[in-house]
Amino acid sequence: MRPLLLASLALLALPGHADVTYSENIRPLWQQHCSSCHGAASPYWGEWQKHKDNYKKRQIGPRMDSYAELLHFVGWPQTGALMRQLDDGTRNGKGKPGGMYQHLGSSEAERQANLAIFRAWVGEEA
Ligand code: HEC
Repeated sequence: MRPLLLASLALLALPGHADVTYSENIRPLWQQHCSSCHGAASPYWGEWQKHKDNYKKRQIGPRMDSYAELLHFVGWPQTGALMRQLDDGTRNGKGKPGGMYQHLGSSEAERQANLAIFRAWVGEEA
């Protein structure tokens, strides 16, 4: 494993959010709300990045269908991208939600509940 990935894993192993795990909590959430645009049919980030505008137009996001792939948007190379995109506008300094917040659920209550799970997973509890 690459050292940087190990560093991200170590970060996730910090105490305080031990109850939320990828397989128990994040994976099912991701499956329901994110997989249609970030699944196996999507290109990996490097390839996606090269033709970003084209993919964006077609509503295709970079592939993140495994624990390791998703971590690339938490730790490296897309540091912080996951939580910036999922933010409800209260923590990203923009005053408006990140682009992926809308996908977290069909009601505000569901979006907030699911955002809390993602925040807990990356260690950004309220
Ligand atoms: C309808 C399709 C669609 C759904 C559903 C969707 N996304 Fe996305 N996602 C995209 C597209 C398209 C982009 C690129 C948007 C941009 O950069 O403006 C993107 C970008 C991202 C990025 C940033 C990637 C980067 O490196 O810039 C992250 C992280 C992300 N999505 C996570 C998620 C998560 C987590 C979910 C589920 C809660 C989700 N997305 C649901 C289409 C989708």
